[in-house]
Order: sequence, then C-alpha cells, then structure tokens
Amino acid sequence: MSDNDQAPTDREEVLIEKLRASVGQFVSGTDLASLLGVSRAAVGKRILGLRRKGWEIEAVPNRGYRLISAGDSLAPESVTPLLNTRWMGRLYLPHEELGSTSDAAAKMAEEGAPNGTVVLAESQTGGRGRMGRAWHSPPGVNLHFSVVLRPEMDPAIAPVLSLAAAVGIANGVRGFVGHPPTVKWPNDLLYRRLKFCGLLLEMLGASRFVIVGVGVNVNMMSFPPELQGTTTSLQNERGEPVRRSAVLASVLNSLEDWFDRFYSDGPRPVLGAWLGLADWIGQRVVVSGPKGRLAGVAIGLDDAGALRLRTDDGQEHRILSGTVELR
Ligand code: BTN
Repeated sequence: MSDNDQAPTDREEVLIEKLRASVGQFVSGTDLASLLGVSRAAVGKRILGLRRKGWEIEAVPNRGYRLISAGDSLAPESVTPLLNTRWMGRLYLPHEELGSTSDAAAKMAEEGAPNGTVVLAESQTGGRGRMGRAWHSPPGVNLHFSVVLRPEMDPAIAPVLSLAAAVGIANGVRGFVGHPPTVKWPNDLLYRRLKFCGLLLEMLGASRFVIVGVGVNVNMMSFPPELQGTTTSLQNERGEPVRRSAVLASVLNSLEDWFDRFYSDGPRPVLGAWLGLADWIGQRVVVSGPKGRLAGVAIGLDDAGALRLRTDDGQEHRILSGTVELR
C-alpha cells in the first residue's frame, strides 16, 4: 500500500483509537507505524494533522506520542468531564451518523431510557425541523442531539418547556460569543436576526416523555443557498472556531438548570428570562399559522407560553403555533 495522504481517514481513526486507549501514556512511533502500516515519518505527519485539528499530542524523542486532550471530538471522554449535571447527559450516546437523533432518542425512550439521556450524531441523513422542514446536518461542524425528558407536569404548560429549553441554550452559548443571543417565538435562537439554533419538542408515548431535538450551528462557515442570508453559526459570530465539546457541555449544564428551575418554580422565571431575550416584543411582526397570516404588535406571552399579538383592529390574539417574521 502506498504511504500517502490519499486514504487518511481509516488510518487516522486507528491512530486516534490507539492514542485514546493509551491516554496519559506514551506510545512509540515505531508501534504506531507498524499498527498503521506506514513509516514513522508518515506517523509524524498524521500527528501534525491531528494537532492542526486541535488535538493536543505531546511528542518526546525516544518515548513517542502521548495524547493530552482530544480535538473537536464529541466522544464521551471529551464531553462528560465538562458536565456538572445531576441527570442531564448522564447517559450520553454519540453516533457517527443517524437518520434523526430525535427518532433514535424516541425509540430509546420507548425502551426505557432514563430522563436526561442524550443521543447525538455527527451527521444526520434525515434531520427534521419544525413544520416538516429538513435540518441541514453536515458532519464535523455542528451539534445535532436529542434529549429524553420525563417531566412530571401538567401537559397544558408543555409549551413553556420549549421556552425553558430556548433560555437554557441561550445561556449555555452566551460565553462563546461574548453576549447572549436573542430568541424568536417559539424557540429559535438568533444572532443579528440570523438563526443559529433550532429546537423541536415532541411529546410522545402518550405524554410519558418528551424528546427535545436541538440543532446548533457551531463551526459551519459555508451555508447552502437556501440558508444564505437567514443563518449563522457561533464561529461566524465569534470570528474563530469554537470547540463543540465545550458548547455541548455548557448547553447541557444550562438546560438542566433551566428545566429544574421550571419544575420547582413554575413558568414565571422562564417566561421572564425568555422575554428578556426577545428584543422584538413591542414591535410589529407577522405571524403565519394555521389561521393564515396575521400582522400586528407582539405584546408578550401568556402564562402558558402562547404569543400575544394585538392586530390593528385592537383585538388580542393568542397564538399557539406558527412562525414569526421579524421586520
Ligand atoms: C427547527 O428550528 O426547525 C427545529 C430544528 C431541530 C433540529 C434538530 S437536530 C437534532 C434533532 N434531530 C432532528 O431530526 N431534529 C432535531
């Protein structure tokens, strides 16, 4: 086999697996070379490639290579040490590729997966958004995950759960950009009015569990034509790459915090925090929903999380589902 860069992926995986299995210990260049079936010089090149991707690997003459920290990996050893949760993400199941993490999480929930189980995929072949839209899920750049929630609550306040999720994520990402995002009803997260995160809440299993599907554009820098002009990513806002494991852990920590707050204190703190992130309240918006398009002034939320809209005839509407267009 020629020793070139044409088929790096499977060799890279073997290299990563070996370094991971020996974490904290040196592995000699000779051992790695024979494991990969390449020269020692080629091992050195691959180590350099991993370092460029953010992996910290120490190299010491006569001892070999030692993994210090994984790069932009979403493996459990990169994520779990960053969690300070009691129940969120304590069962964490990352996959290379899934149809939809929400479908996989729902199946696991049916089979008894505990509250807080997180199913993640590097890429999704059938990622789903709201209103039957597809969710662009390319490998290696973003976060796509779903959480199994087993909330004990009145189903009437379930919409507030999705607002709690939006507030949790907003607080989880704020440190990576330097300021908090804004929210768009019901639960899109935006920077400069461009969407970087969407949430899909599905109440399933005769309301025994809820699947919270989350898509966060983290390092995506090239946007397909249909997303151009409406979409951004954390890297786009920050101006430099963001480590996905750190974003994921911060978001999961904050989600647990906001869900717990909702369960113990009820909707009020969630609604207050959400309104604090909605800079368009008090302005004119257009809402497209089951009843068609309604234009008016967004005046706030009611206690169940519905959007209150005052139309020009002075009537107040309670919007339970739909899409808001900001001016
Ligand atoms: C939206 O804004 O339309 C909601 C997007 C939700 C996308 C996420 S990605 C992870 C999870 N799996 C899916 O199939 N969808 C959600």
